[in-house]
Amino acid sequence: MSQKLSTFVRAIAEKLHVIVITLSVFLVVTSPWIIIGRRLRSNASIWDNLHVYVGLIAAVFGLLFLIKNVLNSHWRQFFPWLSLDFSQCVDEIKQLKHGKLPSSGGKGIFSVVEGIGLVLMALVSITGIVWFMTQGSSDALVWRKYHILFAQGFVGFLAIHIVFAMFHIIDMVRNS
Ligand code: HEM
Ligand code: HEM
Repeated sequence: MSQKLSTFVRAIAEKLHVIVITLSVFLVVTSPWIIIGRRLRSNASIWDNLHVYVGLIAAVFGLLFLIKNVLNSHWRQFFPWLSLDFSQCVDEIKQLKHGKLPSSGGKGIFSVVEGIGLVLMALVSITGIVWFMTQGSSDALVWRKYHILFAQGFVGFLAIHIVFAMFHIIDMVRNS
């Protein structure tokens, strides 16, 4: 890879978290205003159009974010349960009794939840892309149904992840 290209790829990789936050929060917040159904109609509203096209961009970044966080053995941090490594999660649950909140990083509860979020975002992305490719057919309605199901799960993840992010800030203030 040429020097310039690899610098560009690295710069994007470092910004993936803030990119997916911006795009997914926009899509979730505007989702109550969309009615799309089996295809994007020619008289579709601005919100319907934005959901589909911003959604396609978000889907690409969502999948890149998953890839970034599983490559180079990073999967061991976000999916420790795949190698039956529950040690840090168990420690953190024991520490809760002593009033100590779990901390970010490592293979603890925060990371496991982030791993679930990465998978949910990938499923929302894939089902959205497949809906786009099958638009107009009855299959599109099935993919829409799966997309909505995973999107609701993803909103649940966001809520928990934001609460954990606040714990992280409380912890930083306590230790400063
Ligand atoms: C990662 C990116 C995306 C996020 C976070 C997202 C999120 C959402 C949410 C929260 C809903 C509403 C679910 C509900 O009704 O409870 C929704 C619905 C929908 N999304 Fe996405 N979406 C994404 C990508 C896409 C893509 C790429 C497409 C297609 C190109 C798409 C097409 C749709 C459709 C067709 C609906 C159903 C709307 C309706 O007919 O009521 N989305 N999405
Ligand atoms: C909605 C607003 C969001 C907030 C406020 C937020 C906040 C945070 C915070 C504070 C951290 C810890 C960083 C650290 O300790 O260095 C973090 C890490 C992480 N978040 Fe989020 N996040 C959000 C959305 C998302 C979304 C949509 C995803 C997609 C799945 C995601 C996935 C991750 C992952 C995988 C990590 C750990 C790896 C990394 O830092 O890149 N977050 N987040």
